Amino acid sequence: MRLLFIGDVVGSPGRDMLKEMLPRLKKKYNPHVTVVNGENAASGRGITQKIANEFFEWGAGAITLGNHSFDNKEVFDFIDNEPRIVRPANFPEGTPGRGHTFIKATIGGELAVINLQGRTFLPPSDCPFRMVEKIVEQVKKRTPYIFVDMHAEATSEKQAMGWFLNGKVSAVVGTHTHVQTADERILPGGTAYLSDVGMVGPRDSILGMEREAVLKKFLTGLPVRFEVAMLKPQLNGVIIDMEKNTGRANSIQRIIIDEDHPFME
Ligand SMILES: [Fe+2]
Repeated sequence: MRLLFIGDVVGSPGRDMLKEMLPRLKKKYNPHVTVVNGENAASGRGITQKIANEFFEWGAGAITLGNHSFDNKEVFDFIDNEPRIVRPANFPEGTPGRGHTFIKATIGGELAVINLQGRTFLPPSDCPFRMVEKIVEQVKKRTPYIFVDMHAEATSEKQAMGWFLNGKVSAVVGTHTHVQTADERILPGGTAYLSDVGMVGPRDSILGMEREAVLKKFLTGLPVRFEVAMLKPQLNGVIIDMEKNTGRANSIQRIIIDEDHPFME
């Protein structure tokens, strides 16, 4: 089973690029399942029903979220009724939505999609390690293909999750930093790992936001409102191949599309 996972889509520049590129990426790579992180899709914070529907129309099978899951209040109207959207599973009990889901692959079989959030430099949450242990135990009864989006700031916490789940899931891929790392590998137990997949959003920005505002924050410490930079976007993603029946990953390949890395059909 081949998975295409696309990094955090930031605002309208990110959405426009996703719309243009998702069909072309699918044509080139022929993934059997596609997952997109959409936690920054609505003006950089959260997601709306309209945006989620567009992502599904353009070819996403599931959408993962993160610390901005509930920043757009529209999400409360649909998250409980939308099985294709997951927010971090280690949010406190009683949080709307779900932490994992299953999506059908075009070749048959299902991919379990689990979303987690780190606890370093992010708001408090339950332990992602203990939580994922329980979820994996459950989902592996249903499918060997298991994907984890580890939404976290600290590389150490992401690496720790990779090793914690080594041999237990097909892939652990980080999101949230918006900067793609170059440490993709298959861990010895057959788990594909990448510390951060990167983003789909304005490139000459600071993590997708207008540079001026972020610089003002660093230079003065004054409160500033961050807005998505309306600049030419880049796209980051990853392709992961999982072995039939076992779900073990056997290859992981990063995708970078920007002015310096033009897309080849
Ligand atoms: Fe985030």
